[in-house]
Amino acid sequence: MTDLASTLSALEDRLTAELAGVAGAGGLDELRVRFLGRSGEVTAIRRGIGNLPPADRPTAGKVINAAVERMEGALTAAAGRLAGAALEAQLSETIDVTLPGPPARIGSIHPIRRVMRDIGGYFTRLGFAVLQGPEIETDANNFDALNIPPDHPAREGLDSFYLRPDLVLRTHTSPMQVRAMRESGPPIAVIVPGKAYRRDAVDARHLYQFHQVEGLMVGHGIHFGHLKGVLTGMMRELFGPHQDVRFRPSFFPFTEPSAEIDTTCPGCAGSGKRDDVQCRTCGGSGWIEIGGSGMVHPNVLRTVGYDPDVVAGWAFGVGPERLAMVRYEMNDIRDFVENTPSFLEQTS
Ligand code: DAH
Repeated sequence: MTDLASTLSALEDRLTAELAGVAGAGGLDELRVRFLGRSGEVTAIRRGIGNLPPADRPTAGKVINAAVERMEGALTAAAGRLAGAALEAQLSETIDVTLPGPPARIGSIHPIRRVMRDIGGYFTRLGFAVLQGPEIETDANNFDALNIPPDHPAREGLDSFYLRPDLVLRTHTSPMQVRAMRESGPPIAVIVPGKAYRRDAVDARHLYQFHQVEGLMVGHGIHFGHLKGVLTGMMRELFGPHQDVRFRPSFFPFTEPSAEIDTTCPGCAGSGKRDDVQCRTCGGSGWIEIGGSGMVHPNVLRTVGYDPDVVAGWAFGVGPERLAMVRYEMNDIRDFVENTPSFLEQTS
């Protein structure tokens, strides 16, 4: 029994000595495992109990338990000491608050949104209201009310996503002309930025979801000259004071007369040449097409309850993707939806 007591006492002395040199919580854990763990030194001593005469075994167990208790106490006390010392060290640490922190990553506005915001800002200053409309539209508003009856060939070019026979993902923002005019009487001056959908195969120039900004102005004596003035101002807002706008005769069922809108190519300032070679942005013509327009068709005015003998109006629809591609000199529309950070950083 005295053998056991001296073995344990030597073990305790060793633990005390090692504890004095421990510097961190990891070291403490290592000591706990080595001395008191399942395969540790005390366990080895406990195994020896089996070799003692049965009468001595209970006392031996008690002696070992008492030693274990003391050793655990020593470990706990050492842990307390270490935590106190760590706190002490932290409190005396000085922080240089003048050092610059890590730079914060900030996002950027998507180029499409930027173009729509610039257009919206311009029209808001002119006194236009900015409306938003539903992307799920009735077949009647998307087509019929815009003078496109069911058998009209213009429907074919707008092959669309139908949710029900009478509900479609709007193929253009023009149905908002109908909603806006039904909502309020003339005069009316609104723009409608938003998304439109067509069942187009995706390539460098087409997406099945894209954006449009619709414009509509109806009242007494409104004429094509106002449209040209307003659109010229819009293009100068986006690309600078040298922009001009020209109209090319065209056809849309909901306008008469109708025109495609072209603007001075910002890539070559309208010259058709860049560094003495043909400008790639406009193919050398000096103009780029940005959308469609026209005088609101009398049938559309009648459908919403306006009298075409009393009021007249114009409408236009332009494509922010097209404008952004010209602004940022991009040649693949898919870059807008892939949202790679490097692309967005370049256009911010
Ligand atoms: N909605 C036409 C389209 O998506 C664009 C358009 C043409 C809008 C003429 C108009 C307009 O308001 O007057 O192709």
